[in-house]
Amino acid sequence: MSSHPLARVAVVGAGGIGAAAHLPAVTSLAGEVELVAIVDLDEERRTAAGAQFGCGNLYADMAQMQAEQRPDIVIIATPPHLHEPLSIQAMRAGAWVYCEKPLTGSLASADRIIAAEAETGQWTISVSQFRYAGGSQQAHEALRSHRWGRPLIGVAHTTWYRGPEYWDIPWRGKFATEFAGATTTQAYHAVDLLLWLMGGDWASVSGIADTLARPIEVEDASAAVVRFESGAIATLLSTVLSSKQETRLQVIAERATVDLDTLYLPQCDEWSLRRIDEEGQTVVDASWPVPEPPLEVNAHRSQLQAILAAWREGRVPEVTASEARATLEFLTALYKSSATGGPVARGEIGAGDPFYEALDAAGPDRKGVHARV
Ligand SMILES: NC(=O)c1ccc[n+]([C@@H]2O[C@H](COP(=O)([O-])OP(=O)(O)OC[C@H]3O[C@@H](n4cnc5c(N)ncnc54)[C@H](O)[C@@H]3O)[C@@H](O)[C@H]2O)c1
Repeated sequence: MSSHPLARVAVVGAGGIGAAAHLPAVTSLAGEVELVAIVDLDEERRTAAGAQFGCGNLYADMAQMQAEQRPDIVIIATPPHLHEPLSIQAMRAGAWVYCEKPLTGSLASADRIIAAEAETGQWTISVSQFRYAGGSQQAHEALRSHRWGRPLIGVAHTTWYRGPEYWDIPWRGKFATEFAGATTTQAYHAVDLLLWLMGGDWASVSGIADTLARPIEVEDASAAVVRFESGAIATLLSTVLSSKQETRLQVIAERATVDLDTLYLPQCDEWSLRRIDEEGQTVVDASWPVPEPPLEVNAHRSQLQAILAAWREGRVPEVTASEARATLEFLTALYKSSATGGPVARGEIGAGDPFYEALDAAGPDRKGVHARV
């Protein structure tokens, strides 16, 4: 029997990721949380999820659910354009929020969520599940402590495949509801993980984002070059057009190179470390990482456990809206660079800049903007 209080958790959005990751994560932590409600506009979905995950409190409306159930934590797994209004509403009704990525669609919107955190004393935590996946915390600790010397070069390639039918779901592919494409929707995890491993101190980015092959508004491919305050550099490639599907991260530090070769759920044994031996040969250093048990459910669960620990101890949780804003600012800068043709520095996108109001302010005119630069 657990000695700490159970957190009352509600899940809003029982679609793809709600049913595949959040609800299994919540129900697998029965000693720590109580699933008090499922909310979804779609009656069939909420009924099916209620039956599958053993929850009888089913709602179409989050406000009614919060009034009746008073959850401590609300998980928001709805389409992106609803993240800001629902997060702010949930915090005002007295809950912490664990919100799917991308946190929201603009820096202006992120700043409204940050203001609501201050106003309510609650937190909105952004899903950043790769930071909590197998091996990631070990890689972060080693790189941040410069165990292998200074990190010099980073690589994050997200080369996934999504066929045209992927965009049959109406909110996908559109600026108004998805905000942006492959870089923000699919590559978010690798981008967020690489920035975190490199120390989060990105200083400028030059990028190209474009829609090469899919009939969608948002981009299906991007490439970028990044400079960090430390002097380190990185390259990013993000696409949904690749028949060879992989998520590949690499950090080249002074005395070792660390790699992650995965797809959707990094596991500890997908990380590797290489050094140059005394004969000048590349050797795999099998002493790192220290083996971890494979993730039992998913990395959303590992992040939820970290949130629950902070909630019980009354601590500020990790990856609140301010931290997610840093990744969002990076993505915005990449899109601005693509539209303007030059590097974009951290901090330069403020109120009054069209990119402050929208992640990809060029929007449907992006091709026209390209033609002019
Ligand atoms: N972290 C990850 O690995 C990951 C993976 C996939 C999707 N996502 C993110 O999760 C979010 C949802 O994506 P999805 O693929 O699950 O979408 P989805 O369309 O499959 O599911 C969304 C659900 O939200 C419901 N919904 C819509 N408006 C609502 C409202 N006002 N109140 C309650 N429910 C409402 C819909 O009926 C639907 O069931 C997106 O932000 C997406 O980017 C994250």
